[in-house]
Amino acid sequence: MPEAPPLHSAPVTGTPKPAAQPAVAASRIIAVTSGKGGVGKTFVSANLAAALTRRGHRVLVLDADLGLANLDVVLNLYPKVTLHDVITGKANLEEAVIDAPGGFSVVLAGSGLVEYSRLTHEVRDELLHTIQILAPRYDVVLLDTGAGISDVVLFSVSLASEVLVVATPEPTSLTDAYAAIKVLAAQQNRQHIRLVVNQAARPGDGRAITGQLQQVLNRFVATGSGQPLRLIHMGDIPADPSVRDAVMRRQLLMQHMPGCPAALAVAQLAGKIETTLIAQPAA
Ligand SMILES: Nc1ncnc2c1ncn2[C@@H]1O[C@H](COP(=O)(O)OP(=O)(O)OP(=O)(O)O)[C@@H](O)[C@H]1O
Ligand SMILES: [Mg+2]
Repeated sequence: MPEAPPLHSAPVTGTPKPAAQPAVAASRIIAVTSGKGGVGKTFVSANLAAALTRRGHRVLVLDADLGLANLDVVLNLYPKVTLHDVITGKANLEEAVIDAPGGFSVVLAGSGLVEYSRLTHEVRDELLHTIQILAPRYDVVLLDTGAGISDVVLFSVSLASEVLVVATPEPTSLTDAYAAIKVLAAQQNRQHIRLVVNQAARPGDGRAITGQLQQVLNRFVATGSGQPLRLIHMGDIPADPSVRDAVMRRQLLMQHMPGCPAALAVAQLAGKIETTLIAQPAA
């Protein structure tokens, strides 16, 4: 097992560590995460959910960005009940599951819950309980996590069996993606991690970036088995002005502009996730 990377040390000392194995056994819980913030996790989660729903799957998106939740803004939802109410005992979990415009279900965190940017036992237990109760009802659960390697992010990622890292081609995004991947390999014993390159400038960007990151991982990051961590390129989503336009209108891109290049790329990503993850029976 490699040592915890010195670049950014995860603030897990004194708080519960993420599980070495996913705490919830299912092959379809996918954490959408990133090193750097603002790279498109929420955009990908929401629109991927819509694309998977269109393919006939039952999908839940859980806003696991507890401190800076904004899935509600992107989906133009004003939830009466959020995960915050569930955690504080004001409502039960069933009331927090609401219908999103794309035909999928969401559990929203409630905005600005700064107190939940720390991983307390309460937050940990509630996240785990929420997923354990809800996951069996869906074909796919997407966890829209916060950015970086805080203990809340690492814990929510530890609940997923698959990790989809979103990165942009910017050097800062790639450095942070590498740091996050390194921590996940060390702390969660991940054998592989999936990568989607968002805001790609040119076709082929993502494959080249994946190759470069893989080379660095091969040199510096070993998994528990001693094998290098395998990075799986899941696709590229081009930089596309329609994305911002849809966000400004608080609409899903898949509904607002289903034929634009970014929407077509998300649809393709959904197809790849379906064939690689959903079509297989749960382990
Ligand atoms: N493919 C794209 N083309 C153009 N703009 C994009 C694209 N993807 C994302 N964006 C822009 O980036 C913004 C941030 O995206 P998003 O909120 O999904 O990032 P995030 O990773 O969830 O951020 P945070 O780390 O704050 O949770 C969007 O509002 C949109 O304007
Ligand atoms: Mg987000």
